[in-house]
Amino acid sequence: MATITNVEDLKKIYKRRVPKMFYDYTESGSWTEQTFRDNVNDFEKLRFRQRVAVDMTGRSTASKMIGQDVSIPVALAPVGLTGMQYADGEILAARAAEKFGVPFTLSTMSVCSIEDVAENTTKPFWLQLYMMKDTDYISRLIQRAKNAKVSALVITLDLQILGQRHKDLKNGLSTPPKLTLRTMANLATKWSWGLGMLGTKRRFFGNIVGHATNVTDTTSLSSWTAEQFDPSLDWDKVKQIKNEWGGKVILKGILDSEDAKMALNVGADAIIVSNHGGRQLDGAISSIKALPSILDTVGDKIEVHIDGGIRTGQDVLKCMAMGAKGTYIGRAYTYGLGALGEKGVTKTLEILQKEMDVTMALCGEKNILKVSKKNLLIPKDFIPEWI
Ligand code: GLV
Repeated sequence: MATITNVEDLKKIYKRRVPKMFYDYTESGSWTEQTFRDNVNDFEKLRFRQRVAVDMTGRSTASKMIGQDVSIPVALAPVGLTGMQYADGEILAARAAEKFGVPFTLSTMSVCSIEDVAENTTKPFWLQLYMMKDTDYISRLIQRAKNAKVSALVITLDLQILGQRHKDLKNGLSTPPKLTLRTMANLATKWSWGLGMLGTKRRFFGNIVGHATNVTDTTSLSSWTAEQFDPSLDWDKVKQIKNEWGGKVILKGILDSEDAKMALNVGADAIIVSNHGGRQLDGAISSIKALPSILDTVGDKIEVHIDGGIRTGQDVLKCMAMGAKGTYIGRAYTYGLGALGEKGVTKTLEILQKEMDVTMALCGEKNILKVSKKNLLIPKDFIPEWI
């Protein structure tokens, strides 16, 4: 195998190994994919200020997210269907995260269940929650999370209705895959993936099947979300869930400073500036461009995190320099996982840490906590001014 030097190398291996429908699921944005592309491309508009002849010994990338020590300020974002990218994928990703010293967030739409992950890890993880119409199911999920010693609830606010990703509809995305002729032809070329899947029993939405009333089998992702997700979610319901949970809460999907104020009012511990990786409102601004005004509005009162388009340690550093207190990767770790399982997730994290460390040093900074706007060149038109 050729030497893996960056996350794009992992993506190439991932693409070869995993069935097309799951690769496409990862690599999709909604509709024209403009926001999906902007998330990545807007990072390139920021530049670093190179500084020289500064003592660079004793560097540190360590920080804290919601009070928790992290070796780098990069959490694994909630990603649906991870156990379809690699057999038992959520367990493997959670293990890699815990060994590396970063938080792992389990998606409601995961293949391995809360209990599966808890039994196979030693440290608390975070759980992402979608509000569903079946409130008894949500109450049971919260209770299961408490029993499993989950240490933070990440409530997703930007998916009351599913954004359309053309490829998922064309591929008939479901878990396990429906065996059409086209799917079978593709699966037949994915030996290593298939063998892994044959070796595990975990092939359904583990948090849902057998837990939600009347759900004994899985259907396509789009019909599932259309039937189950609660379109009436509002701030009062967010408050209710927060109270029922009683622990730390992170609100995900904030892209507007007015919503950031609302999140502050409900007493969240942190917000994630996010457009769901460009998978929901196509045409929304990129996360990195949305970050500054949100920081100006609430940044001194609540921890502001960000996801969307982060593929390198340099991207992480740009977020931190702008003032974020933490970042999340979704696709970047999915590439590693789909390529090489647990080792691949570790590799992604190692690559990001190295990129952060070298960049910091060449900017004349020793400590990630000291990185700020002074380390960046920000073009005048970077922060949008709308009329
Ligand atoms: C679910 O969160 C998705 O983006 O597919």
